[in-house]
Amino acid sequence: MTKIINGKKLAIKLKESIKNEITNLKKKYKRSPGLAVVQVGNIAASSIYVKAKTKSAREVGIRIFDSHLKKNISEKKLLNIISKLNKNKKIDGILVQLPLPKQIDEQKILNYINPEKDADGFHPINVGKLSISNKINNNLLIPCTPYGCLLMLKSVKENLAGKNAIILGRSNIVGKPMAQLLIKESCTVTIAHSKTKNLPIICQNADIVIAAIGKPEKVKGKWIKKNAIVIDVGINRIQKKINNEIKNKIVGDVNYKEAQKKARAISPVPGGVGPMTIACLLRNTTTAFKNSL
Ligand code: GUN
Repeated sequence: MTKIINGKKLAIKLKESIKNEITNLKKKYKRSPGLAVVQVGNIAASSIYVKAKTKSAREVGIRIFDSHLKKNISEKKLLNIISKLNKNKKIDGILVQLPLPKQIDEQKILNYINPEKDADGFHPINVGKLSISNKINNNLLIPCTPYGCLLMLKSVKENLAGKNAIILGRSNIVGKPMAQLLIKESCTVTIAHSKTKNLPIICQNADIVIAAIGKPEKVKGKWIKKNAIVIDVGINRIQKKINNEIKNKIVGDVNYKEAQKKARAISPVPGGVGPMTIACLLRNTTTAFKNSL
């Protein structure tokens, strides 16, 4: 039987343990962790993510400081706002929802966030720390989506050593940090991307598949090795004809129907990686708070 990796359920469990930890920290230090959430403009997907992140943070006892800024804000003004958040002692974590509008240099903004408050783990210092650490330790600020994927993998199989893993996608947000995490687990890691040749063949050799390419149902059942573990990071909004009616549907980067026939375990979309990304953001905010004590 193929195991469906229920990210929603795993995230609820992780959130419960974070909530308990925050309750104890609050009793001891008379302060709650604070998270600044910055959104620029009104991209619909970003609004959905920001709403879900702030709701979950409040549920576990994190104080939210939200800034919703106009799409045409200058880079200088945004840097100024971040400078204030960096100095604010009530704020332990800062998250700037990506993507940012064209007039703003995204990397410049990420570099400007105090690395100790980097709730996303995107600052070069935290990227470097993740890269050079041999083990995942409790002080690291780790990019949320890949960390969520790792916890999902480990919910199926604790020891991943020696497994062949393929990561589809080489982004700074998912692909590259995912590779760092899987190297620490002693996997043999391949990163595939748009210029990779013979992708189906390479994929067929993988015990672990992480799909993060943003292409609806690109990974076919034929590409999946029997008994592989498949984690689908994609969230693609498509239109599908169902009973002669065009309907909007959210699908992942994996053809779920085909892949679940081959896989030992697979994460669904929605209800897979998404909730775990949010839970890991709460973990990072709590980690930043504890690191500051
Ligand atoms: N946009 C898409 N994913 C993410 C994420 O994990 N963090 C931030 N800040 N923006 C994103």
